[in-house]
Amino acid sequence: MYSSGTLRIDELTHEERNLYATLKPERLPEHVAIIMDGNGRWAGQRSLKRFVGHQQGAKSVQLVTETASRIGLPWLTLYAFSLENKLRRPRAEVTFLMRLLRSYLESNVQRMMDTNVRIRYIGRTRELPLEVQDKMNWAEEATARNTGTTLTLALNYGGRSELVDAFRGLAAEIERKHIGLDRITEQDIHRHLYTAHMPDPDLLIRTSGEMRISNFLPWQIAYTEIYVTERFWPDFRGIHLLEAIADFQRRERRYGGIGERCGEVEEDADRIQIAAS
Ligand code: FPP
Repeated sequence: MYSSGTLRIDELTHEERNLYATLKPERLPEHVAIIMDGNGRWAGQRSLKRFVGHQQGAKSVQLVTETASRIGLPWLTLYAFSLENKLRRPRAEVTFLMRLLRSYLESNVQRMMDTNVRIRYIGRTRELPLEVQDKMNWAEEATARNTGTTLTLALNYGGRSELVDAFRGLAAEIERKHIGLDRITEQDIHRHLYTAHMPDPDLLIRTSGEMRISNFLPWQIAYTEIYVTERFWPDFRGIHLLEAIADFQRRERRYGGIGERCGEVEEDADRIQIAAS
């Protein structure tokens, strides 16, 4: 059950409320991460320019965040701009995405205040244009005291470069504190990730049907349930977030164990013959 105490179920749409009522409150995910994909194809199918797809995608960001906040989801992390996006897209599209981000922040901070959403970022954000960084900092500071959903935008983010940054930080700490290498644990690596302050995602959603991780949170999703939908991101709404959560609740998470089948383990396993190969 969530602890943020910001449930506002009565503000859900009728359709969302009906689906929410079927969910098990004790098995709601704490952290949902989303690879937002398909803006360009959504636009292409309608003979529109790609930037229109991104604009509609920004609307989905707003609506999905608001549903997350109404159901009291503590952590929502969205892959908004990857390091690869910067390197592999036409400059005009990258510039447009940066302008869209600034305008999104400018026009959504008030809504974030109204819906108790706090915004934060992960990624090599210091490499983004200064005017974008200024707007990001402004939105982060304005919403810092909100206690509902934390919306984390991954911007100029790459999972492998996050690991490089974490290992650099850890190596510096090892040198400074003269720590023996055999004392390094997974927790030490975790402490140096951009996401050190949040739990790992329980559920990763990818839109537009692609079965790829695309360098998104590779360390953090080791035990995350993955849900892929054919729907393009500009068509993704709060109801689809709830559908993904319903699907998540039908799964059994085993973390490398054998879950509820534990009782079936044969007690005479040590007497079973193993055929020589
Ligand atoms: C993929 O679509 C999506 C992105 C490039 C990143 C997501 C960006 C947004 C949702 C825009 C606004 C975001 C914020 C936070 C204001 P694509 O262009 O790769 O689609 P395609 O694979 O169909 O070409």
